[in-house]
Amino acid sequence: MKKYSELVITDLKAAAKTLSNDDLVAIPTETVYGLAANAFSENAIDKIYQTKNRPQTNPLIVHLHNFEQLPKVAKTIPKEVELLAAHFWPGPLTVVLEKSDAISTKVTAGKNTVAVRVPNHELTLALLRSLAFPLVAPSANKSNHISPTCPQHVFNSLKEDSPLILDGGICSKGIESTIIGFENHKPTIYRLGSISKEAIEAVLGTSVQLANHEVSSIAPGMQKKHYAPRTPFISCTNLQEELKKYPNKKIGVLFFTENPLAKQMLHYRILSSSGCVEEAMANLYKMMHELDELELDVILSELAPEKGVGASINDRLTRASS
Ligand code: TXA
Ligand code: MG
Repeated sequence: MKKYSELVITDLKAAAKTLSNDDLVAIPTETVYGLAANAFSENAIDKIYQTKNRPQTNPLIVHLHNFEQLPKVAKTIPKEVELLAAHFWPGPLTVVLEKSDAISTKVTAGKNTVAVRVPNHELTLALLRSLAFPLVAPSANKSNHISPTCPQHVFNSLKEDSPLILDGGICSKGIESTIIGFENHKPTIYRLGSISKEAIEAVLGTSVQLANHEVSSIAPGMQKKHYAPRTPFISCTNLQEELKKYPNKKIGVLFFTENPLAKQMLHYRILSSSGCVEEAMANLYKMMHELDELELDVILSELAPEKGVGASINDRLTRASS
């Protein structure tokens, strides 16, 4: 097994060469680290599914370096997408569009739609510009683990299957991109993420609905339990009451903000001392990873205020809750 220090690189040329040889490279983005492969190579795409133990039914996001490349991978581009791209790209918004013939159904898990975004990270944008192909990149963790927000998280999750990791530091946003689609011309959010529903509505000048994943199979990755730490995890509205249920247990608490209860706790993290939802979002996975490593009996978490990206934080906390 290769050591962490042997896998972490900063050399873009080495990353580009590896990708051109159909091998994988973990790449930094502003949201989470991605496990990247040549989007035009079925052989390379197979390696993503193997490395992550990802079900073949869960499609991948294509990463481009600018909006002008979009017609290479998508057939028709609605006006709303032009608007959203002008506003949010490069950035954490993924759009779902009808796929072009260049995109294999291996990318889309058999669907005729493709998910696409332009990530906002200088290193990865430079890498994408140097390549003759776009990159597909799911989060660089084993399926059902918490997404990685730094190179060490990638290594800790993928272990002996870890590819080269391009070190771009800590992800500034800290949770995945928001995914939006336009089925029947109705803008629909398939996954809440780093961009809030309110911010998208402000740009489109219309209300946007949230997909109901219990009945919808549009974003297959969203139905199953996701983003779970190994430690039993419970998100709750009344922390004080919930704490009483675990006498003599090794408890960890993830507080949204400063809380007098923290004084009683041995193991805890505070997502944002000032109660800022953006800061809380950036810290979320890092602190979930940290608490998960403490070998606790249970982790309890408070919910964030359900406003802006607070709703995205709550989506992840609820999904992680067992
Ligand atoms: O921020 C992100 O989006 C990160 C970074 C690396 O870019 N990527 C990421 O990928 O979160 P992943 O594979 O962990 O999540 C991709 C999600 C899945 O829930 C999948 O179902 C959905 O995107 N998806 C992909 N293609 C789709 C499609 N054609 N229609 C609907 N949902 C799609
Ligand atoms: Mg993922």
